[in-house]
Amino acid sequence: MIAWSTDPAQAAELDAADEFASFRDRFELPPPPAGAEDSIYFVGNSLGPLPKKAREYVNLELDRWATLGVKGHFEGKPGWAAYHEVLTPSICRLVGAVPAEVCVMNTLTVNLHMLLVSFYRPTPERHKILIEEHAFPSDHFAVESQIRLRGFDPAESLVTVAPRDGGELFHVDDIVAAIEAHGDSLATVLLPGVQYYTGQVMPVPEIVAAGHSVGATVGIDLAHSVGNVPVALHDWDVDFATWCSYKYVNSSPGGISGIFVHERHVDDQSLPKLLGWWGNRMATRFNMDNTFDPIPTAESWAVSNGLALPMAALRASLEIFDDAGGVPALRKKSEKQTAYLLYLLDELVPDTVAVITPRDPEQRGCQLSLEITPDDIDGQAVFDQIEAAGVFCDWRYPNVIRVAPTPLFNTFGDIRRFVDILAAAIAEHRS
Ligand SMILES: Cc1ncc(COP(=O)(O)O)c(C=O)c1O
Repeated sequence: MIAWSTDPAQAAELDAADEFASFRDRFELPPPPAGAEDSIYFVGNSLGPLPKKAREYVNLELDRWATLGVKGHFEGKPGWAAYHEVLTPSICRLVGAVPAEVCVMNTLTVNLHMLLVSFYRPTPERHKILIEEHAFPSDHFAVESQIRLRGFDPAESLVTVAPRDGGELFHVDDIVAAIEAHGDSLATVLLPGVQYYTGQVMPVPEIVAAGHSVGATVGIDLAHSVGNVPVALHDWDVDFATWCSYKYVNSSPGGISGIFVHERHVDDQSLPKLLGWWGNRMATRFNMDNTFDPIPTAESWAVSNGLALPMAALRASLEIFDDAGGVPALRKKSEKQTAYLLYLLDELVPDTVAVITPRDPEQRGCQLSLEITPDDIDGQAVFDQIEAAGVFCDWRYPNVIRVAPTPLFNTFGDIRRFVDILAAAIAEHRS
């Protein structure tokens, strides 16, 4: 147990002892806005910073394009046609999968649609999808449109589970009870691994067990999990999952996503699927005889040829995770960072900031969601001021400032300085 202190010397000591300190140098962190002393990049939960090596890897592919032209698809190590294979082992480590279960492709919402085509198979008796109340809009829209596409009515088929007691946090018992209550009418459960507004880590193994016990398929949106908290999709027995890589995985704006399909489903030819030529085995892909010959892995969900430049950028970031020993190693620092931030908030801005993220370290990742509580303080004005002072973070409607100290590139000094900046902004906006 660390005896926390508000003395800034403690931040310096923690940084001096930090085994991951050198990783900060592997990123280009945005400079502060004019007039601010320095920047504090606390928004890796929205868009991770640029890994320096991404320039090299993307430039390499631009050079290969310039010199090889179309031959670049198959010449070089790797050629663009095989580029995703280089990423697979690192992705497996991030999401806890075996190689046959993952494929780097598309973007998150596109993948959600493609996976729902396969795993949401409504019948008149079993047609409901369970999501969280106030789910991320894209997930809600995807589910709503999938229900309509299959000829069902969202008013009957889209069901939700709410946080406990009108609050912000979900309770595992409520989720299990909701799944059991819908029972035989439930086709699919789609929930996040980490909730985007509160940063709550959701009880995925319990969700999967409950979903399977009523005969539903279970999918997980890992947008806020991957690169943030340990994930074990295979062992948790999740049916399908997808994620974006531009948040904690620092893969570039809108960077390439990926899918997970559990090993037991990957070669199930009875699953409906949207097809394209990139899901066809390489050996027969260019026969052009219009007979689909599926790759017997999650790669059979791929439809188009791979996005070489986004994959090159992603490669740079994945190398950093591998060199750091992966998320389980980084997690120890992350837990220390969020504990330090919680302590400083409690000590230095008591009674003005409520942390809605769970205090139990098992139930939180890098992100803490802060509500400015007194009615006489305008939370949005506080946000604007801390942003002007160099803090990169985000404001989520209706009332939350999300901050995410991230172990690869944030220091304990960042955290200490952030709380001073926040305290000053709160003091200034108190009317
Ligand atoms: C939980 C969640 N789902 C879906 C999305 C949408 O991702 P995309 O725009 O990459 O499809 C996001 C983006 O932030 C998200 O946080």
